[in-house]
Formats: sequence, structure tokens, C-alpha cells
Amino acid sequence: MREIGELPGALPAVRSRALAPVRRPGELSRVIPTTDLEAREASAAAAGAAVKRAYVQRMFSDIAPRYDLLNRVLSLGIDRYWRRVALARLGWERHPGGTFLDLCAGTLDVAAALSAQAGFSGHVVGADFAEPMLRAGHAKLRGRAITPVVADALSLPVAANTLAGAIVAFGIRNVADLEACLREVHRALQPGARFVILEFSTPRRALVRSCYHAYFHHVLPRIGGLVSGHRTAYTYLPASVRSFPEGSVLAERMERAGYGDVQWRSLTFGIAAVHVGTKTADGRRETGDGRR
Ligand SMILES: C[S@@+](CC[C@H](N)C(=O)[O-])C[C@H]1O[C@@H](n2cnc3c(N)ncnc32)[C@H](O)[C@@H]1O
Repeated sequence: MREIGELPGALPAVRSRALAPVRRPGELSRVIPTTDLEAREASAAAAGAAVKRAYVQRMFSDIAPRYDLLNRVLSLGIDRYWRRVALARLGWERHPGGTFLDLCAGTLDVAAALSAQAGFSGHVVGADFAEPMLRAGHAKLRGRAITPVVADALSLPVAANTLAGAIVAFGIRNVADLEACLREVHRALQPGARFVILEFSTPRRALVRSCYHAYFHHVLPRIGGLVSGHRTAYTYLPASVRSFPEGSVLAERMERAGYGDVQWRSLTFGIAAVHVGTKTADGRRETGDGRR
């Protein structure tokens, strides 16, 4: 197995980068008591305050050993279906031998699913700034063409115009600066390549919304807290979804960041949404006022 952060020489799209200083896997898996301060920090982070980057990196490092289990239990397995739908929009078949980015890769579910597609002969870079998350997904590498890289979504160790496509699943909501992240991925994409965003959203229909609210705000924080030993991680989750732009607004932001042909659709009564944007053929970015 390749060391995390150590990149293969044959990967021209990616340049090497020193590992971010993160905690060791498993070190923080024990129960962490929730204090008022932690709860306040979680809601400030969800609202996008300056503490967000540090809080998110620490929180995912802490819950990494239980992350996959919690995903399956708390989503009742639907998360796998959502990832499949998102992956189907990436258009990897147009460049089956290309280099693709799984952004905010976590435990590498998306990277593993992409590299396992029949006919895929390319390479997947799984980038995440919480090293324990990448390490928790270690078993999914199994000789596959995946390179886990400890990297921040706002400063990717990837040369401009090189990626054949990029995908982020349940990660972009956690990034402290959405616009900067959209621009950073746009920079790294080849002209014509797609960026697929899979993210939670808030259902519009009143009945679904009230069930969702009860589950997200009452059931999920309790089960999530018990299993992960981290109470605020699962209060941060619904709060961060609430603060994240809804479908049409995210589509507009993608357009403002330079993506063309932006399309999106709701999944499972609006609990999640998938957005797709394409770097235009000339690769230039529109500015907010319509200039290039
Ligand atoms: C909810 S997990 C999603 C993991 C995975 N994509 C999945 O589908 O299960 C969000 C991930 O985003 C990562 N993340 C959040 N902000 C990031 C940033 N600025 N740069 C890199 N990774 C980030 C976290 O460390 C975490 O592993």
C-alpha cells in the first residue's frame, strides 16, 4: 500500500505536498464529553464562522473510526444509492484512463466505487484534510488505483487543467469557503470536465420536512453521539445542512464560479441533491458581473 500523501511518480496531474499536522488515527475515538463551549463551537462552525476549518478537521479526525458504521446506520443504507447516482453523472466513461478527484474523500467510498467501475482504467486521487478519515478507509484501497492525499479543498496539490473530472460527496458543506472551493476545483479541471456535488439538502414538502426535522434534530444526534462518542458532530450535521445554500442557489454559485451547463436534481424527497457543472471548453471563468 502506498503511504498516504506519498504520490506515484506516474501521476503528472498531482504534485507532492507535505502532510497536514493531524492527530493519529484512533487516538480520539474515546468518548469526548460535550461542554457548552463545544456545542457553541459546533453551531458557530456550522454557520461558517472562522472556527469552521479547525472544528471540522478535528471533528472528522475524532469520529473517523466509526464514520462508515454511522453512515450506514443513520442513512439506512441510502447513502450508497446517492453516491451511485452522483457517480453516474461524472461522465468518467468519456476519459476512462483519466485522473479523477474524489474531494473531501473521507473513508474513500466514492474513490473505491469509481475505481471499481467496469471499464475504468484511470486513477483516483482521494483528497481530505483529516488524515484519520483516509486511514480509516485504508482497506478499500485493495490494490486499486487510488491515491489518498492529505490536502485542503481550498488548496489542492493538483496542477491546473489536468483532472478529467471531480466529485465531492457530503463534503462541500463542510468547507469554510464554498466559492473558493468551487474556483479551486474549476482551476484543476480540464476544459470539458465535470464537477459533481452530492450534498444533503432540506426537503421542501411540509410533511417530509417535519419527519426529516424530527429525525435530523432528535434521533440522529442521539444515535450519532452514542456510537461516535462525539456529541457535537451530529448536532453540527443538521446545523450545517441548514446553513448550506439550497439547490437553486448552489447552482447559481456554481455558475458564478465559472461552471457551464449546471444541472441539479433532488434525491429521496429532497433530503439530498446532486449538482453537476462543466468547465467550459475554453476553460475560462466567468466573473460575477458576467465578464470573463
Ligand atoms: C461527511 S464526510 C464525507 C466523506 C466521503 N466523501 C463520503 O461520501 O462519505 C466530509 C469529509 O470532508 C472533509 N473535509 C471537510 N472540509 C475539508 C477541506 N477544507 N479540505 C479537505 N477535506 C475536507 C472532512 O475531513 C470529511 O472527511
